[in-house]
Amino acid sequence: MPDVDHDLTVNSGPRPYPFAPFTGDLPAELLDMVVSDPVSRVRLPDGRAAWLVLSYEHCCTVLADPRFSRLPLGATVVSGAAGPRELNMDGPAHAAVRRVGSRAFTARRIATFRPRVRRLVDGLVDAMLAGPRPADLVAGLVAPLPVHVVCDVLGVPVADRPRFYAWISGLNSITAYGSADAADAQAELRSYLAGQLARKRAEPGDDLLSAWVLGQDAHELVDAELVELAMGVLLGGLEINSTSAGLRALFQHPEQLAKLRAAPEKLPAATDEILRYTAVSSMFRVQVVREDLTLGGVAMRAGECVMALPWAGNRDPRHFPDPNVFDIDRTPSVPHLTFGFGPHFCLGTALGRMQVELSLGVLLDRMPELAPAVPIEDIPWRHDRMNGGIASFPITW
Ligand code: HEM
Repeated sequence: MPDVDHDLTVNSGPRPYPFAPFTGDLPAELLDMVVSDPVSRVRLPDGRAAWLVLSYEHCCTVLADPRFSRLPLGATVVSGAAGPRELNMDGPAHAAVRRVGSRAFTARRIATFRPRVRRLVDGLVDAMLAGPRPADLVAGLVAPLPVHVVCDVLGVPVADRPRFYAWISGLNSITAYGSADAADAQAELRSYLAGQLARKRAEPGDDLLSAWVLGQDAHELVDAELVELAMGVLLGGLEINSTSAGLRALFQHPEQLAKLRAAPEKLPAATDEILRYTAVSSMFRVQVVREDLTLGGVAMRAGECVMALPWAGNRDPRHFPDPNVFDIDRTPSVPHLTFGFGPHFCLGTALGRMQVELSLGVLLDRMPELAPAVPIEDIPWRHDRMNGGIASFPITW
């Protein structure tokens, strides 16, 4: 204890964030700050000072208001003049890419993938049932499912998958970020995707890459931009950690699990509550203030960093009564922020929700005695990936 006090007096700068390594639950202190201190100054793990934004309203502002940018200060993107446009940009450049991406990513089109996703889930659960007990839910289902699904949706031929998996394995890694290997893998991936676009143009299939190249005369994105769009969809869709976090929450709330088992028709609502209630990391995208402004009574200056935390906004009592209670019967009046908000709102929402829902549905249905094989506190969380998540989750049935 004396050491801690000493540190506080010596280090009078912004408080280091996260307050503790993430192990599945946002700290009670942070949840209190959603109301008591919704905009505060912290120091991020990379050393940058930043504004930590926690309330629902202010998270929405930071994510949607053009005075908050995804680009470093001073960087400007004039359409077509600064390399290929991509999703991770602001304003019209982002909108042009997003329009093409969302055209082929409609809820109706995604609904046609449901039987395929169900088959993939069934196949992975079959393999777990046939293997030893306990099994690792992450290695058996949570990690492979979204990779298969995103490859199917994009239209990566099955024969190419092994090469493809090797290239994408480092994409969301923090530890590999910036390494020569990661750069090589990304370069190979980009050139592979460019080749696929050419193939799809000659022989279109029922997939996103085909839809994008076929629509090319109706939009003005060049192939390099379609490659970036595919990279964006890959980055967004490769990892879905809400299934394992959701099962953890259900195990921690046996009365909710029992309610769901007794009434499987509650699954869509339960999925939404899982998405609202669970966090898989204490971090989110860092943005930059474009011009001096005031948020929640706090003055921010152009160039400063801001991190809005959607999973904290999801615990705002002004929108979610008793926000820290996990209740699958909840009927919120506003959407949760787990898929983001504003112009960058998740493009794969329907596909993400579908995977969580089908995974949990199949697990509960086919494993009537499903239970964690270790105490919940012992489940390890990963800190090497941008998306966080559970590293391994031993289950038995
Ligand atoms: C439960 C699963 C998912 C969650 C919780 C989730 C969450 C999010 C969030 C929070 C954002 C906004 C990021 C920001 O503001 O910077 C986002 C963006 C995005 N997501 Fe998802 N996502 C999920 C599944 C998927 C899937 C399956 C795909 C595609 C196959 C996908 C593709 C994308 C794309 C392309 C964007 C960028 C949109 C843009 O910048 O305009 N996501 N997602």
